[in-house]
Amino acid sequence: MTTLQTATTALMDITPRPPVVFASGHGSWLYDTAGRRYLDLVQGWAVTCLGHSPATIVKALTEQAGRLINCSPAYYNEVAIRLAEGLVGASGLDQVFFTNSGAEANEGAIKLARKWGTKHRGGAYEIITMENGFHGRTLATMSASGKPAWKDLFEPKVPGFTKVPLGNLAAVEAAIGDRTVAVMLEPIQGEAGVIPAGADYLRKLRALTERRGILLILDEIQTGMGRTGRMFGFEQSGVQPDVMTLGKGLGGGVPLAALLAREDACCFEYGDQGGTFNGNPLMCAVGSAVLAEIGAPGFLERVQAASGHLQRGLERLASRHGFGAVRGQGLLVALDLTRPVGPTIVEAALAKGLLVNAPRQDTLRFMPALTISDDEIDQAIALLDRVCADLDEKVSA
Ligand SMILES: Cc1ncc(COP(=O)(O)O)c(C=O)c1O
Repeated sequence: MTTLQTATTALMDITPRPPVVFASGHGSWLYDTAGRRYLDLVQGWAVTCLGHSPATIVKALTEQAGRLINCSPAYYNEVAIRLAEGLVGASGLDQVFFTNSGAEANEGAIKLARKWGTKHRGGAYEIITMENGFHGRTLATMSASGKPAWKDLFEPKVPGFTKVPLGNLAAVEAAIGDRTVAVMLEPIQGEAGVIPAGADYLRKLRALTERRGILLILDEIQTGMGRTGRMFGFEQSGVQPDVMTLGKGLGGGVPLAALLAREDACCFEYGDQGGTFNGNPLMCAVGSAVLAEIGAPGFLERVQAASGHLQRGLERLASRHGFGAVRGQGLLVALDLTRPVGPTIVEAALAKGLLVNAPRQDTLRFMPALTISDDEIDQAIALLDRVCADLDEKVSA
């Protein structure tokens, strides 16, 4: 394993990074500066949905770079219009605002809901969010998140967020008051360890928010763009949100995210929202290429088949090594390890050339490229099997 450049002090030390420096990638594989290859089931945390440097994105980027990179969001550009119309057509929502990150899209959703509350609900501004939810790292989105480790960070938090346990409809009902403007949640809590909200709960939440005249905001930054085997996670429950955010897979690896809403919720006035890079043609060209690829006939069926293959492999692994249940949808899948060995497995897997993620000590999360082959899935399971066998041996020694 190379240690080249890993001792750099030029980068802010914001997370423990393994002693590997990546230099290139192709599909499901990453290569380090020593030429060693790694089977990547993290894919930038569900970002590089078509794998690393796919031809379709390289083509979109290079062609668009030679044509027009940016012309300011104060002007229309044909590429942003094409992508906005594509997303509107695919989602059934009416309008789009492009951003550069998921957190920025959620920040926009929070602002939109507050504006809507000012205009239509007597100044209501409070948003009900979920315990253990994750919405980003700006101050408002950290305040909206229910990540326990953030509870006392960067005080004072942005006010106006009430947290309830995921899945408890009565708690939402009890939390709705005159100042409530929206409920905001992920269809599947990704960072919390792949915890589905559940179709029944989402349907009841939709009915409740309609009855009480408040907005339903779905954060589909992790679940959108084919990740669950459907274009958007909400399709699994048939529930349509008033506001939705997309990110991660939308740009296939480039910084692109989006805020979408129903027409009657699109109430920003001039000056309320904007940003220098928002909707730039270079990123939007990639978004259109990604959307076309995911929407191509057979693509999502293949994601569903790969999901079944991965889940069956993980179930076999679980029964061999005494782990628990496999959960998730599409290619957002978690394995309950039932004991706090996640970080040990992640480290040992890296040494064997496999990248996986442990969002919790007792959970492994798998977010491979949506284009991963069954053979690559088999290779990943075989590598994990060897890692777990070594671990079992150490425990019994
Ligand atoms: C559900 C969800 N919302 C928001 C975000 C934040 O997105 P970004 O890191 O692009 O700001 C993430 C990132 O992990 C996420 O999973």
